[in-house]
Amino acid sequence: MTDRPILMFDSGVGGLTVLREARVLMPDRRFVYVADDAAFPYGAWEEVALRAHILDLFGGLLDRFRPAISVIACNTASTLVIDALRARFPGHPFVGTVPAIKPAAERTQSGLVSVLATPGTVKRQYTRDLISQWASKVHVRLVGSTQLAGLAETYMRDGFVDEEAVRAEIAPCFVEQDGRRTDIVVLACTHYPFLVNRMRKTAPWPVDWLDPAEAIARRAAALLAEVEPAPGGRAGSGGPADGRSGHGDIAVFTSGRDDAANRRLMQGFGLAVDTGEPAAG
Ligand code: DGL
Repeated sequence: MTDRPILMFDSGVGGLTVLREARVLMPDRRFVYVADDAAFPYGAWEEVALRAHILDLFGGLLDRFRPAISVIACNTASTLVIDALRARFPGHPFVGTVPAIKPAAERTQSGLVSVLATPGTVKRQYTRDLISQWASKVHVRLVGSTQLAGLAETYMRDGFVDEEAVRAEIAPCFVEQDGRRTDIVVLACTHYPFLVNRMRKTAPWPVDWLDPAEAIARRAAALLAEVEPAPGGRAGSGGPADGRSGHGDIAVFTSGRDDAANRRLMQGFGLAVDTGEPAAG
C-alpha cells in the first residue's frame, strides 16, 4: 500500500516547483511526475477541448500508475477540471492548485493585489469566484501572460531567459492608485516561481511574490495521511531508511521526448525519464 506513488501533474516543468516542496514533506514517498508537454501550453487551449483532453488522459494515467493521490500542480488545469476529475474518478483523491487569492487578500497592506497567470486561468469562472468570495474588499488585477510559461520552460532546459520579455510580461501587475501601490503579486502558474529572481530584478518596485507550492505540498501530505493512515498515526513511512531521496521516481512526457537536455533537467530533480510507452491521451 505505501509504495503507491503520488502522481504530480502539469503541462510541463511547472509542477516541479510543487514536487520539490512535496519531497521535503514526504521524503519516503515515490513520485510519478507527468508533464503533458504534447499539449503545452494549456493556457492557450479552449476550455471544452482542454477539459475533455485532461479527463481522457487521466483515465490512462490512473490505470497505469495506480497512485495513492494525484496533485494537479497546474492552475490552468485545476481551475477548469478539478471538479470534473473528482466527479469522473470518485474513488481517487485529488489535490488542486488554484490562485492564492485568499492569502493575498489577507496579507495585502495596500489593498492592491495582482494575479499573474496564464490567459486560461485569468478568464476562468473559478478564478472570478475566488475573487468575489475572498477578495471583495481588495482591488485585484488579473494579468494574463502568453509568454511566461514558455520562458520558464526555456530557462529550465537551456539556462537562458529573456529578461526584457519578463519585464514586459510582469509590467501590467504594477498598479499605482491614490498614492498606493500593488504590494502582492500572486504567482498563479506553477511555472512562474522558476523565474521569480528575474521578476524581482525587473520589477519597478519590490513586492511580495506569492508562491503557493509549499501550501499545496502541505495539503497533499495531509490528504495522504487521511487516505493512508500510518501505524501510530504518522504518515508516509515505508520507504528506504538510508536517507537517500529517490525511490524510482520517474517523469513521464506525453510527447515521448527523450533528449539529453530534458534527461539532465529531470535528473537534477531526481527523476528518471520514463522511456516506456508514452501515456495515451
Ligand atoms: N503550469 C501551468 C499553470 O500552473 C500552466 C502552463 C501552461 O500554460 O501550460 O497554470
